[in-house]
Amino acid sequence: MPAEPADPIDLSQLLSIDDFEDVARARLTPMAYQYYRGGAGAERTLDGNRAAFARFCIYYRVLVDVAQRELATTVLGADVAMPILVAPTAYHRMAHLDGELATARGAADAGTLFTASTLSTTPLEEIAAASAGPKWFQLYVHKDHGLTRSLVERAVQAGYRALVLTVDAPLLGRRLADLRQGFALPPGLVMANFMNGMEPGGASVLGESDLARRIAQRHDAALTWRDLEWLRSLSNLPLVVKGIVRPDDAQRAVQHGAAGIIVSNHGGRQLDGSPATIDALPAIVDAVQERCEVFLDGGIRWGSDVLIALGLGARAVLVGRPVLWGLAAGGQAGVARVLSLLRDDLSDALALAGVPRVRDMPRDLVHRRP
Ligand code: FNR
Ligand code: LAC
Repeated sequence: MPAEPADPIDLSQLLSIDDFEDVARARLTPMAYQYYRGGAGAERTLDGNRAAFARFCIYYRVLVDVAQRELATTVLGADVAMPILVAPTAYHRMAHLDGELATARGAADAGTLFTASTLSTTPLEEIAAASAGPKWFQLYVHKDHGLTRSLVERAVQAGYRALVLTVDAPLLGRRLADLRQGFALPPGLVMANFMNGMEPGGASVLGESDLARRIAQRHDAALTWRDLEWLRSLSNLPLVVKGIVRPDDAQRAVQHGAAGIIVSNHGGRQLDGSPATIDALPAIVDAVQERCEVFLDGGIRWGSDVLIALGLGARAVLVGRPVLWGLAAGGQAGVARVLSLLRDDLSDALALAGVPRVRDMPRDLVHRRP
C-alpha cells in the first residue's frame, strides 16, 4: 500500500523532474516504482525518447520583446494555461492514497487538462467530479463490446470532453521489471471502472504480470481501423488516436475522423525498438497538414523538450511519469508543483528563444543537430 504522507517534504526544494523521481523512488514500494518507471524489453525506446531531444537544437532569436510570455492555448477547443497536458497512466492509488482524485486536482490547479485512464484505481465518475478542469477519457477497447460501449457512455455522462483511443497496446509490452517482481495491484486496490470495483486484485506470481494477463484476457487485440467508425458512432465526443509513429497511420487516423493524434510509443513500454517520438513527429506533422491537432508524449522532462516539440509542430505535449513522481512525492500539491516546474521552465525557454507566445510558434526555430 502507498505510504501515508508521513514526513511531508519541502516540495520547493525539488528543482527538476529527476529530483521528484528520486523522492518517489524512496517513497514507493519497489514494485510500484518499477511498474511506473519501466519499459519493455531492453528499454531502448524508453531511454531513446529522452535521449532523442539532445539531437535537436533551438536556434534562438534575439532582441525580441519577451517581457510578457503567453503560454495559454487550446486543445480541441478546451482552454489550457499551458501546452503541457497530463497523459493517461494506470493505477494512481499505488502512488498516493488519494490517487486519481489528487492527480486530477493537481492538474486543475496548474490550469491544465487531465486524461483519465481506463485502468484507474478510482471510478471515472469520481475523477470527473474531483475538479472543474477539462478532462479526456482514455479508452481501452474490450473484447466485450458492450463493456466498451458502457465505458464510452459513462465518459459522456461524466462530462469528459474527448475519447483518447490507445492503439499501441493490442497486448502489453514485455516488461522485465514487472515480471521479476510478479507485478499485481496491492491488496485493497482495484481496477475501479469495472464490476463496481468489487473484483479482487490478482495474486502476485513471480515471473508473471497480473496486468499483462488481464489485458490479454480482456482487451481486443483484433481491433482495426474499421472499428473506428463503430467507436465514433457511440458518442459525439471527439476522438484522439494515441500511439502513432508513422505518417501513413496518422493519415489513416485523419481519414477515419480523428480530431487529434498523439505521437506516442507509450513511454517505451510497448514495442522496444520503436522510434523516439520526437524523431517521428516532423514527418507526421507534414502528413497531417493541419487536418487534426497533433500532440506528442514520451520523455518530456524539461521546458526545452516542450519547446522542441512545439517548434516541430506539436500543438501540446503530454507527460506521464513526471506526474506520477509528483503524486508520490506530494499528492495533489506534488502534481501541481511538477506541472508548474515544467511550465516555468518552458516560460524561461520561450524568453530565451525569443518566442513570446506559444500560439505564434515559428517553424524555423528547431533543427536537427548538424
Ligand atoms: C502509461 N501509459 C498509458 N497509456 C494509456 O493510454 N493508458 C494507460 O493506462 C497507460 N498507463 C501507463 C502507466 C504508466 C505507469 C506509464 C508510465 C505510462 C502511457 C502514457 O500515457 C504515456 O504515453 C507515456 O507515459 C509518456 O511517456 P513519459 O512522459 O512517461 O516519458
Ligand atoms: C501500461 C498500461 C496499463 O502502460 O497502459 O502499464
